[in-house]
Amino acid sequence: MAARRIPLLLSRSFTSSSPTLFSRGRDSSLCRAAAAAAASCGYSTASSAAAAAEDPITPPVKVDYTQLLINGQFVDSASGKTFPSLDPRTGDVIAHVAEGEAEDVNRAVSAARKAFDEGPWPRMTAYERSKIILRFADLLERHNDEIAALETWDNGKPFEQSAQTEVPMTTRLFRYYAGWADKIQGLTAPADGPYHVQTLHEPIGVAGQIIPWNFPLLMFAWKVGPALACGNTIVLKTAEQTPLSALYVSKLLHEAGLPPGVLNIVSGYGPTAGAALASHMEVDKLAFTGSTTTGKIVLQLAAKSNLKPVTLELGGKSPFIVCEDADVDKAAELAHYALFFNQGQCCCAGSRTFVHESVYDQFVEKANALAMKRVVGDPFKGGIQQGPQIDSEQFEKILKYIRSGVDGGAKLETGGERLGSKGYYIKPTVFTDVKDDMLIAKDEIFGPVQSILKYKDLDEVIQRSNASQYGLAAGVFTHNLDTANTLMRALRVGTVWINCFDVFDAAIPFGGYKQSGQGREKSFYSLSNYLQVKAVVTALKNPAWL
Ligand code: NAI
Ligand code: MG
Repeated sequence: MAARRIPLLLSRSFTSSSPTLFSRGRDSSLCRAAAAAAASCGYSTASSAAAAAEDPITPPVKVDYTQLLINGQFVDSASGKTFPSLDPRTGDVIAHVAEGEAEDVNRAVSAARKAFDEGPWPRMTAYERSKIILRFADLLERHNDEIAALETWDNGKPFEQSAQTEVPMTTRLFRYYAGWADKIQGLTAPADGPYHVQTLHEPIGVAGQIIPWNFPLLMFAWKVGPALACGNTIVLKTAEQTPLSALYVSKLLHEAGLPPGVLNIVSGYGPTAGAALASHMEVDKLAFTGSTTTGKIVLQLAAKSNLKPVTLELGGKSPFIVCEDADVDKAAELAHYALFFNQGQCCCAGSRTFVHESVYDQFVEKANALAMKRVVGDPFKGGIQQGPQIDSEQFEKILKYIRSGVDGGAKLETGGERLGSKGYYIKPTVFTDVKDDMLIAKDEIFGPVQSILKYKDLDEVIQRSNASQYGLAAGVFTHNLDTANTLMRALRVGTVWINCFDVFDAAIPFGGYKQSGQGREKSFYSLSNYLQVKAVVTALKNPAWL
């Protein structure tokens, strides 16, 4: 099949047309990227279908690293096994990647253990550590577009999104944590007696980290950044759908001066490699992002093994609340973005769009128009807003939810089926007349399916928003200060975005209430996940003061 080539720096011409939106390293709002992408296109669904059906564009990058990374070396798996990483545009194999299993996890943990117990990383000054992380950030910047191309190839997300937002945000996040490395400190405390009391904030040891496929690089950054800043060593398991970008950037981290054994990458499957890491006796801490079901499994594995502390970033069913005073055009645009961004594959997707009855009809009209206009196609093509879903499993799962919406009596306004005949493209889908007890209003669909629900008053929408097993995030669209204040306090969620959505600055903590998780990532809150607090009490002899 003849594949078409595109130049590597696809993003540049796009960038130059909207420089203020896409200054690298400064744009922490995914929202702005999507708004600009939307502004730059204007295709109809007819051309979307055509785009999806075209021959796939050849990605402007080579796959250089497919082995496991253990003790600073790329090595084959102990069994010699590999697994295929697939291109979501076609289902074709991109590369065969070394498949790590329990034996490989053992080797990786031994390397991390040795690097922690005997190696230079926890012993060098915090300033030295910070300089290595900063050099890594410079390398990320230099290789921005290759990394973005790998991310898009493996995941299917629009290249412009990878190149202009996600890789720059990854770079920004590492610079943010480089800045923390030499500002981590304990305190002295007064005690009732002749004692000198101090706290030492020590690295926790070997961190096990398991990440998902929806934001492979950003999840890598959220986990590796704070763990390194605190002086820990790491064994990270990537998602089996998206192993490639982490291997590439880990090579750069070693180029930047990271000592061997500090970061080990094991590609592989959950029940084998993931479970081995979660239950490993020599792993001191576990951080996990993924489904609530798997989160419960790893928590049990951690408890049954050595009781390692666990942080969990899990699923969501986040409300996006459009209030009666809302400018409907703007509200519909933001609600559209909140749901459809990243093919709808976001843990915090605004997947319950609650609209006040006074603006409901107007909103529905606008929401449908936006979904019909959304440009779906090869993610390497300029102006594409939506690529394929990650794999056949997710694709089938989403189509099943769409069928359940129709069968359950919701009104399918647009979309509702696959796009083209190849790969995992799904037409942007909008349901109205959605009721709270329908599956599409309760479960995490993780796809481009917007469910619009009508409400009458604030108390009602608060109660309905909170009636969920999840509590990850919420969007509120209002210019009424009292309404905003009421909602921000009443919603039982880890993040409330008011008149914005998906703002993911490194300095903003992220995490869930209820079954959306435990603990917070990003910001200075994340440091505490990777530190032990040691109290040191020294008896004083004849102190001058207490
Ligand atoms: P998953 O939660 O099973 O996978 C996430 C990570 O956990 C992957 O690295 C996987 O290999 C690993 N894993 C799986 N089983 C494991 C086990 N027994 N022990 C240790 N690690 C294990 O999610 P999956 O299957 O990819 O997607 C299923 C659903 O989960 C999606 O449809 C979506 O609803 C949700 N999800 C939520 C994400 C989020 O960001 N909160 C990310 C990915 C999926
Ligand atoms: Mg893949």
